[in-house]
Formats: sequence, C-alpha cells, structure tokens
Amino acid sequence: MLFRGWEETVDRPWPDVATVADHLGVPHLVVTRHALVRQVLADPVTFRPDNALDAVTPLPVAALRVLAGHRFRLPPTLANNSGASHPEIRAIVADALHPDRVAAQRPWLTGLVRRRVAGLTAALDAGEPADLYADLAADLPLLVLARLVELPDAPVGAVKDFARAALELFWAPLDADRQLALAAQVGRFHTVLRDFAATGGGLAARLRSAGHSPDVVVGALFFLLVAGQETTSQFLTLLLHRLTAEPAVRAGLRAGTVDVADVVEEGLRLEPPIVTWRRVAAVDTTLGGTAVPAGRSVVLWLARAGRDPAVVPAPAEFRPGQRGSRRHLAFGAGAHRCVGAQLARLEAAVVVAEAAPLLDGVTVLRPPWCPDNLTFRMPDAFVIQRAAAVTAKPVEAAGAEPVEATGAGSVEAAAGGPAEAAAAGAVAGT
Ligand code: HEM
Repeated sequence: MLFRGWEETVDRPWPDVATVADHLGVPHLVVTRHALVRQVLADPVTFRPDNALDAVTPLPVAALRVLAGHRFRLPPTLANNSGASHPEIRAIVADALHPDRVAAQRPWLTGLVRRRVAGLTAALDAGEPADLYADLAADLPLLVLARLVELPDAPVGAVKDFARAALELFWAPLDADRQLALAAQVGRFHTVLRDFAATGGGLAARLRSAGHSPDVVVGALFFLLVAGQETTSQFLTLLLHRLTAEPAVRAGLRAGTVDVADVVEEGLRLEPPIVTWRRVAAVDTTLGGTAVPAGRSVVLWLARAGRDPAVVPAPAEFRPGQRGSRRHLAFGAGAHRCVGAQLARLEAAVVVAEAAPLLDGVTVLRPPWCPDNLTFRMPDAFVIQRAAAVTAKPVEAAGAEPVEATGAGSVEAAAGGPAEAAAAGAVAGT
C-alpha cells in the first residue's frame, strides 16, 4: 500500500509532489509539502472532495450486492459533498458541536477519565499490564459524541466494530473475501442507521426537519459515527504511546512548565490519526510545477505536511509550543475543515492531563500496531506495565519493534518483538 510503514517513510526525502501507483496500479498524485497541501485544500473548485469516501479497493459485484441488500447508499453529505447542500448540512452538524456545547462536556469527561485512570493505576500498582487503548481510549470519544448528538441505541462494541469495518472497507487494500465479510458487517449497521434516521431525535431530527432526505440523514450519521469517534480514539492512543518516549515532556507537564494544549497540538502534528486525505482534480491543472490531469486522485499527505521544515524548526522532535507547531493540517483546511476539531482537542487535553502520569516508569509491552490503510492508522492495542513488574521479555521475532522502557529520564530499547508478531499475540503479557 502507498504508506505501509509510513513511520519509516515519513522522514525520508520525498519530492514535493510525486505520482505513485497504488496496490492496483492506479496512479495517485501524492502531495508532501505543507504549502501545496494547503493550496489544494483551499481550492475546492480545482480539487474537489468528491472522492473522499471512494473505496481504495473498488468493491466487486458480490460485495455491492450485499450492500444493496441492506439498501446501503452513501450520497454526498459532508466530507465528499461539493454540492450546494454542503454548507447547510455542515452548519447543522456544527451547531450540534458548538464550542459551548463541547466545553460543557469537560467536567463529565474529566470525571470519567479520572475514574478510569484510578482503575488503571491500581492495576499497574498491582503489577498487572494495562491496555490504554482498550481500557481508556477506545470508547471515550463515542461516549462523548453520544451526549452531543443523539445516536442509535446500539451497544458501544457494535458501533466500534462497524466503524472499524468501514475504515477497512473503504481505505484498505483488500481481497474479495474480506470485502464481502466487511460489506455484510457495514451493511447490517447501515440498516440500524436507516431505522434511526427515520425516527431518531437530536441531529437526525434536525436534518429531517430541514427537509433532508432519509439517505442524507443516514449519510451524515454514517460519517459522524466513523469520523467523529474512531479518529479521536486512535489519536489518544497514538499520543499516549508517543508520550511514553517523551520523558522531558511528561516532566514538564508534571512541573506545570509545559502546556497541555501545546502537547495536544504537537501530537496532532507528529501523530495524526488521519495520515492522508484525498481530493480529485476537477480540471487539467498543475501543482508544484507538475501537470495534473482532470480526474487524477490527489493524496494529501497530512502527516508529512506536519513535518515540513518550512513550517517548524525541529520537524521530527516533539517540542510543545515550538514555532509553527499549531500549523499542522491534521484537521484539513478550507470549506471541509474538520467540524469536530474543538471536540477532539478537548478530549485529548483531558486525557493528557489525567493520564500522562500513568506513563512514568512503565515498559511498553505492546506498542500500537497499525494495519495497512491509506488513510487511518487504526492502532489496535497499547499495553504497558510497571517496569519493575516486567519479569518475562517478549518473544522475539525478525524485524522486531522494540519494547520500550520509559523511566523518568530515558527511553531504552530492550529486546523486541515485531508489531506484527505482537498483533498475533506473540508479546508476553498480551
Ligand atoms: C483527532 C481527531 C480528528 C481528526 C484528526 C480529524 C480529521 C479530519 C480531517 C482531515 C477531515 C477532512 C478535512 C478536509 O477535507 O479539509 C475531517 C473532516 C470532518 N470531521 Fe474530523 N477529525 C477528527 C475528529 C472529529 C470529530 C471528533 C468529529 C465530530 C464529532 C469530526 C467530524 C468531522 C466532520 C463532520 C468532517 C467533514 C466536514 C466537512 O466536510 O464539512 N472529526 N476531519
């Protein structure tokens, strides 16, 4: 896939724009420089958002039939809508996520995170491993979203499974069997959404009363359930993992010399959960001196743009508050810029403030493993244990990711097992 192992490629030299073939041989124009990514995002006439939700691996007829059996339709509503209806749909969603409504969630969210951190601290104190993805970050954003936007009455686990299936179905390289299985999963939940769109309150009711068709209501809810919670739980996991390797930043947080909001911004810059986002050239044009034919998929490498030396003096270093730190494009830009940015920032700020102390003196038993995906990082677990309690070293395998110890002052690489082996359960304690 284009960005398999993007952590390794992100700091390698790249041209400003490059035509790269994907796993199926389809050419994409990959844009790496901050100024050019911005230019594309700011020009929705030349570079339209219509392909934002197109499947990277086109769906075979059998999978399309499964989706059709669930009356699955995804008309342009938000991210992939370049039509006249976009501003109004966006305004209704933005209202539900108004900064005042978001800020009002802080006390409730802080209480919830504190209780979870207390439980995790007790587990770590007892020498047990703790999974900060499963037990802290995975469902938090969904619980907050449910308070802001009425959601279908479905179990949290079912929504998470559906959202991750959708991210895989639309953004991963897949074989036909997997596409079929994912289409069945996504289609089933789509039926739940369709029923809710017809009768539900909150955002669904507001979209209905503004005269939007059932398909549009379903489309908006579908995107929110994916973009409005998976992204943030991924970000929280990646940011906490990054902070295990940043003892000076944690010390600054403890001492009050490092600002939580600056940590969140530097996290968004260096560990964005959305690595790339797409546009499509509407006309023959040029970008960075390169000819771009109409219809060409344009892959905006948001993660790379955040490390552009033209924007930040120390691009690869986690330095909260450094000049240019907040100019990342993790939330996109222009007419489609993320409407949940305020909410994501609040959630991350609460989690960093409350959970960073958990990371002192721990060993990372299981770093987040991210599957092959054009756009989303989708970490699956992040397991830590107090360094003193770690007795067995993880099973080693070729190409190992190091297991990381995070003492107060330094990060040592200990014996390692690869991320892939970790995913297969090869790391002790998982
Ligand atoms: C760290 C977390 C998040 C990241 C990195 C993120 C990133 C993005 C990006 C890159 C886009 C596309 C922007 C563009 O095309 O210019 C986007 C759009 C969007 N995001 Fe987020 N997002 C996050 C969290 C959220 C949350 C919490 C919500 C809502 C609860 C949300 C709702 C949306 C919506 C509705 C759009 C489409 C906006 C439009 O097309 O008008 N996102 N987001």
